[in-house]
Amino acid sequence: MRLDQYLSKAMGISRSQSRKLIASGQVTVDGQLCKAADFQLGENPQVTAQGKALVVKEFVYIMLHKPQGIVSASRDKRDKTVVDLVAKDFPRRELFPAGRLDKTSTGFVLLTDDGALAHRLLAPKRHVTKEYLVELDTPLTPEMIRGFEEGVTLADGQTMQPAQVSNPDPSRPCLVRVLLRQGVYHQIKRMFGVYGAGVNALHRTAIGGVALDPALEPGQWRELTREELEKLQRD
Ligand code: URA
Repeated sequence: MRLDQYLSKAMGISRSQSRKLIASGQVTVDGQLCKAADFQLGENPQVTAQGKALVVKEFVYIMLHKPQGIVSASRDKRDKTVVDLVAKDFPRRELFPAGRLDKTSTGFVLLTDDGALAHRLLAPKRHVTKEYLVELDTPLTPEMIRGFEEGVTLADGQTMQPAQVSNPDPSRPCLVRVLLRQGVYHQIKRMFGVYGAGVNALHRTAIGGVALDPALEPGQWRELTREELEKLQRD
């Protein structure tokens, strides 16, 4: 990789900004001052800019707590997107959500530029489990629990893979924990719709064994820890 390219990736600045920085004599490579923007870096270069050591991450992985009213897309003509919420901190990255939540839904959205990982997480064959907390407009019934376990047939005739539903809090009979391995459009709403139940709120709490960090308020995000990433890569 060229030095100016490395700097713009590592610092999230434009190519012309990195060229200026290099020309101003504030960049070193392997301990030597380097003023050539087209300098070709070797394996594992030690690059500093303004005295700080830089690292280029090949990919980024962001855990976002999606608020209501935001669309799960990279760009949208009308609405604010999940990528808009983080974009200013990652100006040189082509981020996208690995799996969608409806505009009204909240919770864990994974943003990344690692297409291979996203593909693996979303591939129907891999069955990565997602966990949701859902508030229904009617109490959960044994008929729903049985139906979800067997595989609900939607109004359009598609039969869903088996899913688990349970009530995590007996004092709130309309609250349901859902474990799902598929990602069909409006799937949970349509599955409960078969039983005449409406969804008042839907929140994703975990993806593949990685839980949404409770310290993140709606709209807040952080990068995944190494352990969390390894969990998703193993799933
Ligand atoms: N199922 C839905 O109906 N909506 C979501 O946002 C996610 C799963």
